[in-house]
Amino acid sequence: MYSEIVRKIEKIVGTHSYGMVGVTKKRLYYVSNVDGTYDLWVAGLDGSNRTKIAERPLTGSRVRKDKEKIYFAKDVSQGRELAKIYAWEEGKTKELEMDPMRILSIAYFENILSFAGSTSKENLICIAYNDREIQKVYSSNKWIFVNDIYKDYMVASGTLAGNPKSMEILIYNLKANEYRIFTPKEGSYNVASAVRENKILMESNFKGKKKLYVYDIEANLLSEPELDGEDYKNYEFQDYLSFGFTDDGEIWFIGLHDYRAYAFLDGYKIPHPEGTPSYLDFIDDEIYFNFSSLKTPYSIFKAKLKGGWEKILGDELDEEIKDQLGDVSIVKYKSFDNLEIPSTVYRTKNPSKIAIIYVHGGPWSHVGDFWNASITALVSAGFNVIAPNYRGSTGYGEEFRTLDIGDPGGGDLKDIVYARNYAIENKIGEKIAIMGYSYGGFMSYLVTVKEPELWHAAVAGAGVVDWEMMYELADATFKHFQDLLFAGKNDLKRDRSAINFAEKLKVPICIIHPQNDSRTPLKPVLKYIEKLLENGKTFEAHIIPNMGHVVTSIEDAYKLLLPAITFLQKHLI
Ligand code: 4NP
Repeated sequence: MYSEIVRKIEKIVGTHSYGMVGVTKKRLYYVSNVDGTYDLWVAGLDGSNRTKIAERPLTGSRVRKDKEKIYFAKDVSQGRELAKIYAWEEGKTKELEMDPMRILSIAYFENILSFAGSTSKENLICIAYNDREIQKVYSSNKWIFVNDIYKDYMVASGTLAGNPKSMEILIYNLKANEYRIFTPKEGSYNVASAVRENKILMESNFKGKKKLYVYDIEANLLSEPELDGEDYKNYEFQDYLSFGFTDDGEIWFIGLHDYRAYAFLDGYKIPHPEGTPSYLDFIDDEIYFNFSSLKTPYSIFKAKLKGGWEKILGDELDEEIKDQLGDVSIVKYKSFDNLEIPSTVYRTKNPSKIAIIYVHGGPWSHVGDFWNASITALVSAGFNVIAPNYRGSTGYGEEFRTLDIGDPGGGDLKDIVYARNYAIENKIGEKIAIMGYSYGGFMSYLVTVKEPELWHAAVAGAGVVDWEMMYELADATFKHFQDLLFAGKNDLKRDRSAINFAEKLKVPICIIHPQNDSRTPLKPVLKYIEKLLENGKTFEAHIIPNMGHVVTSIEDAYKLLLPAITFLQKHLI
């Protein structure tokens, strides 16, 4: 009974994925799982002569056009995300001297390195020249991410005003060793991506809708970019997946219009298949990009502005899996307060009377037309899936994204309940289960004790059951995350923690949790398990040894998905 599931999950999680980091004049840098772990690789621009740079990096820098050099951070704590930074140049790797910490982002320019990190006490920005003597230049209890460095300027973005709905830009003058914080309007949301000469490319909602702007640091002037092409004018972008400058100073971006992603260079539309390009890089007149869809695994393509596209690195989905994947549609249903919730409905080709509500994590992310191994596993196992982009999801603008602030597990949880009602009313399923990881796991735990009658089963991966205990266990980054989410309403935490309502649970729950998760720690979940045991509830629990929050191997993905799918089959079919 289980052999078919084992085979299918092996095929799905074992699908080779390729994610481009960037291109230089001669090389393509990318992350791939071809050897079983998600490793950093370098190859020729056509994908030939592949060489591994590092195993399981957690994060890395971009590459620069004129140098075969890249930085990456590697976990030295068995998944707890305490990492050290390494510099790789022309085949040689150097470990930087530093205390391990959570590394949020890394940028470099010529001989200057800058990164944002987090310890148990503080969020900080460090710089180093020539990969020696790392110095702390900024410390805060707020979130801060380094975006880019160019000559005298380092640019970072963060929640520096302490307002959970705003983001500000930090501009650091390396020569003068001074910084200032920039916002076009108090309370607006601003994130930079790149700096070139004295110009910052950023997104801002200070006039209402999110748009791209160029900020001239020296002239203190903010303007809309002047683009040559007019193709982009046919779209109304609600959000941007990524944006940047080319080496020639042209602007590229990937915008989301009505759920779909479109890529542009200097205002001209870049040809790509239907689905989601997520990041671009350029060399001469060639455009390299990451691409995936719900039916295409993560791949690397190249294209020309006035030509077609071709795949350079990418796996075909296995036929047995493909055969089960049915229609995808985008629906919008009304939630309790009439807010429209956009959702993906993905049908299995096997006749199925079961629907799984798949709840994405984040909460500030979304399900779009891009690859998702969990959803693919559910559909290929014979379940229909509905994946709501509940309030708080990205992709629909700041107003929608910030609707969960000060109310996590409130309105967003009701949106999940309404997804379940929609699935029943529209005959997507008669029996309904919920499954999610991280913030999605949190929703599985909470909705099964707050609305215990509505479900047949639940899967909670790396979930949150106790916000109060979790705060005590969090480092500076995740303490601030929780401060942002609750917007200071600490009184709400008790009500939004399943651990205080364990006796209400009515359905079997499958608990899956990485042992060394430092974002959503295991300890509160062990307490929850104890409560379930004391209350005679039906549950199964799978602790994944020596794993952290982030999936860094095919085996990790397999160990998360196999118990989830076998549990759902047992309790629903
Ligand atoms: P995610 O996990 O869904 O993977 O982003 C989370 C981790 C921590 C918190 C929320 C979600 N937190 O509030 O600390």
